[in-house]
Amino acid sequence: MLAIVGESGAGKSSLLHILGTLDRASAGDVYCAQIPVGKLADDAAAEFRNREIGFVWQSHYLLPEFTAQENVAMPLLMRGESQRQAGEKAAEWLREVGLDDRKHHRAGELSGGEQQRVALARALVTGPKVLMADEPTGDLDNRTAELIFELVQRLHRDYRLTSLIVTHNLDFARRCDRVLRLHKDQVNEVTPESLATGRMG
Ligand SMILES: Nc1ncnc2c1ncn2[C@@H]1O[C@H](COP(=O)(O)OP(=O)(O)OP(=O)(O)O)[C@@H](O)[C@H]1O
Ligand SMILES: [Mg+2]
Repeated sequence: MLAIVGESGAGKSSLLHILGTLDRASAGDVYCAQIPVGKLADDAAAEFRNREIGFVWQSHYLLPEFTAQENVAMPLLMRGESQRQAGEKAAEWLREVGLDDRKHHRAGELSGGEQQRVALARALVTGPKVLMADEPTGDLDNRTAELIFELVQRLHRDYRLTSLIVTHNLDFARRCDRVLRLHKDQVNEVTPESLATGRMG
């Protein structure tokens, strides 16, 4: 579990976008899971991204008019899975993130913390190996942020994920296995223990 920290504008989101093939670097080679992702053609990049990576953003990007279950089922339907199978898997994942009783609620009616739980379920329902989260707790109050971070930790462990977590919360970064710090065009690995407490950026 890798935390990516650095001031606003340091390039944390850009790094995730490039690793996740949502954007291309203007120079250099970028490898993700030993694949030179910058060299992939557009359709191969989309295939790689859909197979290997689950994304969670600061704002959840759920479809507000659709239910939690429909939102989580969406990536499976897009892969051609049947309605029934996608619905069942989505329900299982909503149970996994603690939202069994909310699955028929519209996403737009859920709280911020609940929406991030749905976003995590949607990111992981397709069974990716890598979880990339860009400030997943950024919009949440401290207590809710703590619960979401603990959920990410548990999912990371239980599903043996590789997780890249961009965060301004140094307390969370300290609890990751490794920390990358972006600062003035440099990327440095620092030890989690060396981080001060509090927020950065
Ligand atoms: N596609 C792009 N092409 C060129 N420059 C970009 C692109 N995306 C972002 N930038 C620039 O790169 C720099 C880093 O932006 P980025 O969004 O990655 O920072 P960040 O570390 O995620 O900041 P924050 O903590 O505010 O989210 C900024 O100066 C931004 O304007
Ligand atoms: Mg960012």
